[in-house]
Amino acid sequence: MSGDRKDDHVRLAAEQQASGPRRNGYDDVAFVHHALDGIDVDQVTLCTEVADAPWPLPFYINAMTGGSDMTGAVNRDLAIAARETGAAIASGSVSIALGDPSVAPTFRVLREENPDGFVMANLGVERSADDARRAVELLEANALQVHVNAVQETVMPEGSRSFSTWPSSLERIIAAVDVPVIVKEVGFGLSSGTLRRLADMGVAYADVSGNGGTDFVRVENERRPQRDYGYLEGWGQSTVACLLEAPAGAPTLLASGGVRSPLDVARALALGARAVGVSGSFLSVVLDGGAEALRDRIQEWTMHLGSLFALLGAEDLTALRTTDVVVSGATAQFCAARGVDLTTLAQRSLGRSSNAR
Ligand SMILES: Cc1cc2nc3c(=O)[nH]c(=O)nc-3n(C[C@H](O)[C@H](O)[C@H](O)COP(=O)(O)O)c2cc1C
Repeated sequence: MSGDRKDDHVRLAAEQQASGPRRNGYDDVAFVHHALDGIDVDQVTLCTEVADAPWPLPFYINAMTGGSDMTGAVNRDLAIAARETGAAIASGSVSIALGDPSVAPTFRVLREENPDGFVMANLGVERSADDARRAVELLEANALQVHVNAVQETVMPEGSRSFSTWPSSLERIIAAVDVPVIVKEVGFGLSSGTLRRLADMGVAYADVSGNGGTDFVRVENERRPQRDYGYLEGWGQSTVACLLEAPAGAPTLLASGGVRSPLDVARALALGARAVGVSGSFLSVVLDGGAEALRDRIQEWTMHLGSLFALLGAEDLTALRTTDVVVSGATAQFCAARGVDLTTLAQRSLGRSSNAR
């Protein structure tokens, strides 16, 4: 594993952002507007609770990078922005630092710049229980993200093709670490069946990380001399589809993948996410303008999100989950095929005491 690969990922993911926000599953999700339902913005609280901790913001800087000089500098800027806004933050996979201690500081910077923040370490599911413990130690992490990325591995030139041991490996990791474990995809989604399996294994948190944002088929395909896997672009389910089909009894849901704006954050929260992760959209901000630009962007999103809650008449996350949401287009077709009822979602406010519509 090399730092060059980490640099490639950042460069290629940033290139995907360069053409601006793309249409994705979030565009199929609309709040019903009720013109008299608004409340005052100072009645709104955006705080949430994840992995046994209060988070002041319901969105976070999701796993990206570390492992080279350049990505260490990116992590420093991400960490400063997290510290100054109170946003939770995840590292990129720390695997590389477990094998090569000389690059450990490019990850450690996430904790050093943000000593009191909520920091998540990130590791691949195939790693050993001992590696999982070391990953947590490295960052004095509050939680461990374990990524399941079979699609990425398939296209990655140096990737694995052996996935059958992943469930047992995950069980060993869960048993070994003493911080909450968050199982996450990397942009291809967690199906209802996968969420059910995770719940059965005792996983408490899952980040569905669906498609529509950074596409790691595209990233890895660009790293192949033949560029021969282009036909797999777009693989997987959207974040919205994953949230909609999540079964009762699923782990507590986090949502990432394709989040472009405060409205997407509100949409994911309204569909049941406890918090919303952002990678690609924030990466380009930090690469262009450093820590200050990302701090400003996070503060802007926080302000806008508060305004959206007020407009929707939701004083907190629980109330947001009683708003009326209409799902259309390809996402509605997906839900029909998967047996997910969308009519209740579109009429949730009928149950609200203030609204007898
Ligand atoms: C440059 C870059 C590197 C990433 N590296 C990791 C990683 O090491 N581990 C991981 O779990 N996810 C990684 N991801 C995936 C993100 O955490 C996220 O799941 C995915 O990018 C979808 O979110 P987005 O559309 O907001 O980018 C990376 C994303 C980017 C942009």
